[in-house]
Amino acid sequence: MKVGEGVAPAVILVDPKNAVNVARALRNCYAYDVGQLWVTGDRWLQRWTSPRGKRRAPREERMKLYQESALIESERPLEAFDGSVTPVAVEILKSTQNLAFFEHPENPVYVFGPEDGSLPDWARRNCHLHVAIPTRCCINLADAVATVLYDRRQKRLVQGLDDALPSAAMLREHRGFYDGEEDVTWT
Ligand SMILES: C[S@@+](CC[C@H](N)C(=O)[O-])C[C@H]1O[C@@H](n2cnc3c(N)ncnc32)[C@H](O)[C@@H]1O
Repeated sequence: MKVGEGVAPAVILVDPKNAVNVARALRNCYAYDVGQLWVTGDRWLQRWTSPRGKRRAPREERMKLYQESALIESERPLEAFDGSVTPVAVEILKSTQNLAFFEHPENPVYVFGPEDGSLPDWARRNCHLHVAIPTRCCINLADAVATVLYDRRQKRLVQGLDDALPSAAMLREHRGFYDGEEDVTWT
């Protein structure tokens, strides 16, 4: 893994257990224009493998489109990023910022912990920012990824950093209600 191979914004999942969560995280990355999903560990791979031993995403997430975001396995994912990125630990920690008031850095790399544990020391040490989602209990890993990426998108749209496109222009999939001619706007 060479410095520079990592491209922000990116998401890192540390030792996830559940292949469906990895697949759903990949789908969320694609949905929110995050080009790289880095994954450490191999527990999740056991359920990512077909009976014939071929690597295959869980069925519900096998759409080609989602694979435009890269799924990259690495045991040292942060080493792939140069100094221009800001690693953000997404975890319920003692001293952590509330996502509602969080200012997302320009080049974020969001680091999430496993379903059955929390972020290891190397991740906490290397993350300059710590953020928690204001929930009554810990939420599902893929839901946490979606929440953080939505929060980033929402804030960027409100701040005018991203274009608020009409839904038809935003979507890169056929929904059957739009033929590409009329001007569809948010309602
Ligand atoms: C199911 S949680 C891990 C639960 C962990 N065993 C615990 O009880 O603390 C999986 C991951 O989702 C993320 N997560 C879930 N809920 C979160 C929240 N409210 N705030 C921040 N991160 C959260 C974190 O990255 C966490 O490591």
